[in-house]
Amino acid sequence: MNINAIPSTLPQGAPPVRHYLQFADFTADEYHYLFTRAALIKQKFKTFTKHHTLVDRTLAMIFEKASTRTRVSFEAGMYQLGGSVVHLTTGDSQLGRSEPIEDSAKVISRMTDIVMIRTFEQTKIERFAANSRVPVINGLTNEFHPCQILADLFTLLEHRGTDANGQIDPSYLRGKTVTWVGDGNNMANTWLQAAATLGFHLRVSTPSGYEVDEKVAVTPRGMGAGSYKTYSNPLEACAGADLVTTDVWTSMGYEAENEARRKAFAAWCVDSKMMAAAKPDVLFMHCLPAHRGEEVEADVIDGPQSVVWDEAENRMHVQKALMEYLLLGRQS
Ligand code: CP
Ligand code: NVA
Repeated sequence: MNINAIPSTLPQGAPPVRHYLQFADFTADEYHYLFTRAALIKQKFKTFTKHHTLVDRTLAMIFEKASTRTRVSFEAGMYQLGGSVVHLTTGDSQLGRSEPIEDSAKVISRMTDIVMIRTFEQTKIERFAANSRVPVINGLTNEFHPCQILADLFTLLEHRGTDANGQIDPSYLRGKTVTWVGDGNNMANTWLQAAATLGFHLRVSTPSGYEVDEKVAVTPRGMGAGSYKTYSNPLEACAGADLVTTDVWTSMGYEAENEARRKAFAAWCVDSKMMAAAKPDVLFMHCLPAHRGEEVEADVIDGPQSVVWDEAENRMHVQKALMEYLLLGRQS
């Protein structure tokens, strides 16, 4: 037996290596499992009950862009699962000194059990995953932010989609309407994939020139039971919505366009008029960080319909379920 051929520390009987690079990588059935598991994991966290399913496992986190929530949620989450964490950035690793991503993947995945990457182009994370012996998770790329939408949907289900026993009922999502106001960015692309995977209606209102690139977001499987419609008027897009959500006008990596974007997006600020046009029990979400007075008015994000703090916290609970699933498979 060639000891160097044994993949890292993954034990015998571990599930085959799978990556989570975009929302479309998992099926509706897998999401249903993850939501239910995240609810259990959250319950245990809230009652100070140990949940050490990843003892001796190591998560490598690679950040090529800034982060608060993703860093804290993955790091705290992995420790709570009994594992440990290595934190790398472009500035303090050889990644910033042009070591090929393929070589970095081969080395990092021999010493750790799972990798989370926040970077620029999706192709970069794909190249890393193609050379990794262990699962790779997308912690945000220019194109996608799947962990955030996982948390957003879990938050929506917690608030609106539970059965008579208080259990998460993912069938709630079918046929519901989510409205995206703002940039056709990594978050919007991921919402589109989520609508296709889980069968809800997505409305997107962007200024002209900042539309979602359907070639990036729509997979060959199409929209499935979901639907996708564009609106030039954000107020119209919000009419009758179950969830209104937005994001910064300028994403990380696009700062040079800041001034042009400020002008183009001026009418794409979620305000109380838009929220009033939606369903009476509509919720507001924002992945954060937010700029009050730009993409959202303070009275909306700090108002009663906003669930942004639950949304941020839920990053940690869903990602614990995700890491556990990628390393151990389904747990009963
Ligand atoms: N929402 C989100 O991913 O936040 P950070 O950029 O702080 O990680
Ligand atoms: N669209 C934003 C999300 C930040 C969490 C960005 O990419 O900067």
